[in-house]
Amino acid sequence: STKTTLAGFEFDNCLMNAAGVYCYDAAELDQMQASKAGTFVTKSATLQARTGNPEPRYLATPLGSINSMGLPNHGLPYYLDYVSQQQIAVPNKIYFQSITGFNIDEDEQLLAQITASDFKGIVELNLSCPNVPGKPQTGYDFETVERILTRVFEVYQGPLGIKLPPYFDIVHFDQMAAILNQFPLAFVNCVNSIGNGLFIDAATETVTIKPKNGFGGIGGDYLKPTALANVHAFYQRLKPEIQIIGTGGVKSGQDVFEHLLCGASMVQVGTALQKEGPLIFDRLTAELKTIMQQKGYTQIADFQGQLKHL
Ligand code: DHB
Repeated sequence: STKTTLAGFEFDNCLMNAAGVYCYDAAELDQMQASKAGTFVTKSATLQARTGNPEPRYLATPLGSINSMGLPNHGLPYYLDYVSQQQIAVPNKIYFQSITGFNIDEDEQLLAQITASDFKGIVELNLSCPNVPGKPQTGYDFETVERILTRVFEVYQGPLGIKLPPYFDIVHFDQMAAILNQFPLAFVNCVNSIGNGLFIDAATETVTIKPKNGFGGIGGDYLKPTALANVHAFYQRLKPEIQIIGTGGVKSGQDVFEHLLCGASMVQVGTALQKEGPLIFDRLTAELKTIMQQKGYTQIADFQGQLKHL
């Protein structure tokens, strides 16, 4: 079985979408709900609806993707309404609500709205959007992360985790883990896209997306080794109560297996889901099951986090 447990909740499948992909509106979320995925996360919601950055703002490339969406979303109440309906339509399934404020007071307001709603799921606080002009990725400002989490856990009682950007330095893994271990986080999701890459078209000698002079978040194959490093680094450093969600470069059952082996309890799919659509969850689940069978594993717990070192 590919069942997993996160934040004390059981999920029939360890696979789900990555925030931003197939989760913008009810039509997309309905497709996620009908898929083989264990659950879904909504598009990162802000207080007010946003149209996002000018198009073109997403490009699939042979090895991955570049995007500078700029947080297009319908605003938090839209997603809370949708999830509240799904909680009734399919009870015993737990859903993720992604949120992102533009400052600590907005984070607090978003969490107050969630507390005041019927939402019974898990919050994913996004500390890593790279695409809003003038706004740095919060996850790279360690002092601000500590300040935000201090406030978050003063005001919010429900299960909550954070989505982090990728880190590229061992000392940064050490410093961020030391901060995160002070808080009752349900999970840490590693990783968001590699921020501010540049994919260009040599034939036309131009950038390929419009916002920010072509700079955007990189996903797909480019991201997998960095994602696995972040999953494993935080798995080794975080207290056991803080679980890991693995995201980055997942397009095959082997990629899912690798994230689980590095310590993920749940695995999210972004670029490959955008390319293939929600039927990808049938393929990934079947491929993961085949690998587990070949290795003699009957459940994720048989190998989760068991990466060997030389
Ligand atoms: C967007 C991109 C991200 O990587 C993210 O974490 C949040 C939002 C975006 O551009 O919409």
